[in-house]
Formats: sequence, C-alpha cells, structure tokens
Amino acid sequence: MTTTTTAPRIALCTLDEIAVGLGRAFDVGGREIAVFRTRDGRALAVDGKCPHKGGPLADGMLIGEQVVCPLHAFRFDGTSGACDQESVCAIEAYPVEVRDGTVYITVPSA
Ligand code: FES
Repeated sequence: MTTTTTAPRIALCTLDEIAVGLGRAFDVGGREIAVFRTRDGRALAVDGKCPHKGGPLADGMLIGEQVVCPLHAFRFDGTSGACDQESVCAIEAYPVEVRDGTVYITVPSA
C-alpha cells in the first residue's frame, strides 16, 4: 500500500474576524502562526514568533505586505518571510487563501 502525504488545508476563521492591517494568532498543529488581513481583502500567514527576540508577530501590524514586529519593528515580508535586517533569519510564510469569506491555510506536516 502506498501512502501519499499532502499538506493539509485548514480553515482558520472568517476574514471578517481579522481587523484590516492587523494580525491574529493561531495554533495550527502546534505551530504558532500569525495571520494578517490586507487592505485589498487577502490574508497573509507567517510564523508567529519573531526570530530576533521572540516578539509575538500577531500583535504587530501590516504595512503593505510587510509584517512589523511589535517589539523592535523589524519587518518581514508577508509572502516570502524575508527579514529587512541582515542579521535576523527569515521566517516561514505559509500558503493562505480566502474562499467565500473563509481563510484557509496550508501547513506542512510535522
Ligand atoms: S523581537 Fe522582533 S524585532 Fe526584536
């Protein structure tokens, strides 16, 4: 028997449950994930913890597609996870989509 492993797509919430430009924290299979709502009605999902000093990224804000850490304002690209500071590691960005007003995320299996 062959087992195929695909990353599960998980419904998180409705888009309306996230304020525009702000984030919301989710625990997805033990991963801390921050989901943000863009001004044009999309969602972006990244790791919930800042690699600099552990700031809670869901408490930050979104400027354009940049997630701004609430502790020291380092910025992370909401689609790639790249950091604007050379000395700080990038974070994971996750595939996310909004369908019929519901936010779905795809996370790799642990
Ligand atoms: S903890 Fe995020 S920038 Fe310092």
